[in-house]
Formats: sequence, structure tokens, C-alpha cells
Amino acid sequence: IKTIGVLTSGGDAPGMNAAIRAVARGAMCHGMKVMGVRRGYHGLLRGEIEELNSRSVSDILQRGGTFLQTARSKSFATEEGIKKAVEVARIFGIDALVVIGGDGSYKGARALANAGLPTIGIPGTIDNDIGCTEYTIGYDTALNTAMQAIDKIRDTASSHERCSVVEVMGRNAGYIPVNLAVANGAEAVIIPEAPYDLDEIKKTVIEGRNRGKSHYIIVVSEGVGETFELCKNIEEATGIETRATVLGYVQRGGSPTLIDRVTATKMGSYAADLLANGTINRIIAQQNGKIVDIEINEALEMTKNIEPEMLELVKKMSI
Ligand code: F6P
Repeated sequence: IKTIGVLTSGGDAPGMNAAIRAVARGAMCHGMKVMGVRRGYHGLLRGEIEELNSRSVSDILQRGGTFLQTARSKSFATEEGIKKAVEVARIFGIDALVVIGGDGSYKGARALANAGLPTIGIPGTIDNDIGCTEYTIGYDTALNTAMQAIDKIRDTASSHERCSVVEVMGRNAGYIPVNLAVANGAEAVIIPEAPYDLDEIKKTVIEGRNRGKSHYIIVVSEGVGETFELCKNIEEATGIETRATVLGYVQRGGSPTLIDRVTATKMGSYAADLLANGTINRIIAQQNGKIVDIEINEALEMTKNIEPEMLELVKKMSI
């Protein structure tokens, strides 16, 4: 492998820039040429490709977002799209492609691999919802951003003796909400993976007030999708003013934390090492704290679960 391409795909995540930089500089250390593909698979189809040098990836390590930009491409996910993408990569002399993104992006990477363009996947998403890895780039930054935002919500909830229902990102995965509920001292957390009892939550709020609490935080995953209804419901039943806040995209922006910078750099450099050794069609993952690589089909089959202990912990701490 002499020339590699690198792209970011799906939702952006803080640390993606650090990962691009590490892939590029890691590959350059092995004497490989590096092509940056703009706008994910969409840009690949359109040949939005340019050579990167060590300077083109300087001063991006600390920046949120992805300087290569990203997209969710519909036209790519067809047989014709895959064929075209492989052809464009060939024209630009790309022997292998590094895809930084989530599970959806890996499906694209696998299709490319099957069509003759070797790929390596690097986990980049704030959701931490990739089965084969215990950590995804962007997760720690998103958690810290949301944690600080909820601390601020708590200040005002406490002053007004209100209940705050805070909707956080994570798509259909509850990793973000569950960790925030623990870190922000929430009375309850509602996630798509576990059933919840609204009466129980109302009871927790009422009992909390009776014990002298002056604020109540309920963290809800966006995947549950009933935030405003929930809010109304809690207010009606408890008589406590209840407000909804949807944190939204603030969670996806910002300078990556140390954990995200270091993890992205390790994973990016590892990806370059694999390609330099001719190892292809792998997903980079973190398992037991170590960076490893897993065959792409196997990686896509893997699943992981929210630890039930975390839900218990929220309950225990809400007294
Ligand atoms: O995957 C990251 C994420 O921010 C999810 O938490 C969220 O559901 C989704 O992306 C939103 O995607 P988009 O910005 O394309 O609407």
C-alpha cells in the first residue's frame, strides 16, 4: 500500500481532527502518500480529494468538528454508488481508505472492501454506540460538555425549585444519558434500552421534595422521543414546575478533551501502522483499555450493553 485515503463520515465528533492528523502523520512516517477526502462518501463519489502533507494537518489537533467535513450520503449506499466510489479511488491512486465514523459508516467501508477497495475503520461518534469497542472518539468531550450544561441547568432549577427534564443525544443508545445521570446527580434517567415507570419517577420527585430537595433533574435520551410530553406529565402529577431543555448540537461541538485527543491519536497512528504492514479490512477498537483491531465483518456483528449497575447507581444516589 503506497497511497491511502482518509475521510470522516456520519455525525462529526470532537477528536475527528486529531484522528485525521494521526492517520496522516502516521502514514507519512511509513513513507505513504495521504489523500484527504472531503465530505465523507459523498465527496468520494464526487472526487473531492486532495493530497495532505504534514502541514495540512497542523493546528487541527485541538479543534472540534472535522476539517475534512462530513456527510450522510444516500447515493453512496447503492451497488452503483459503491462501484463508482471504488473507481474514483482507483483514479486518484488510493490503495486503501481509512474511514472515521460510526457503525453506519463501517457498513459502507465493508461494501467498499468487498468491491475491492481495502478499508480500515476508526470509531468516531459521540454516541459510544459501536459494539466492538468500549470507547469511541468524541464521547468524552460530549459527556463533559453536556455535564457542564446540566450543572448550569441545575443552578437555575434550584433557584426556582423546578424540575428539569434534559434531553441529551446518543440516538438509540443510552451511554450518554446514563453517564450524565450519574455525573449530574439526576433523580432519574430514561433510555431506550430499559423500560421505565413514569409513576415511579413522579414518586421519586415528590418524595425528594418532601425530604427537602430544591431541584430535580431527569435525563432523557433523544431516542425515547417524549421529552415535552414527559415534562407536562411530571408537572401535572407533582405540582412542581417542570421545564424541558433539549441540549442538541452543543454536545457535538467544542475542543476535544485530553482523552479524545490521546485516543484519536493512538487509533489514527495504529490504523496507519496496520496499512503499512498490509493489514486491511479491520476496525480499530479499544478493548480493556488497549487499542486492538478486529476483522470488519466480525466487528459489525459485535454488540455491547449498558451496565445495569449504572441504572442502579442513579436510583441509589437519588435519595
Ligand atoms: O451520531 C451522533 C448524533 O449526534 C446522534 O447523537 C444524533 O442522533 C445524530 O447524530 C443526529 O444526526 P444529524 O446531525 O445528522 O441530525
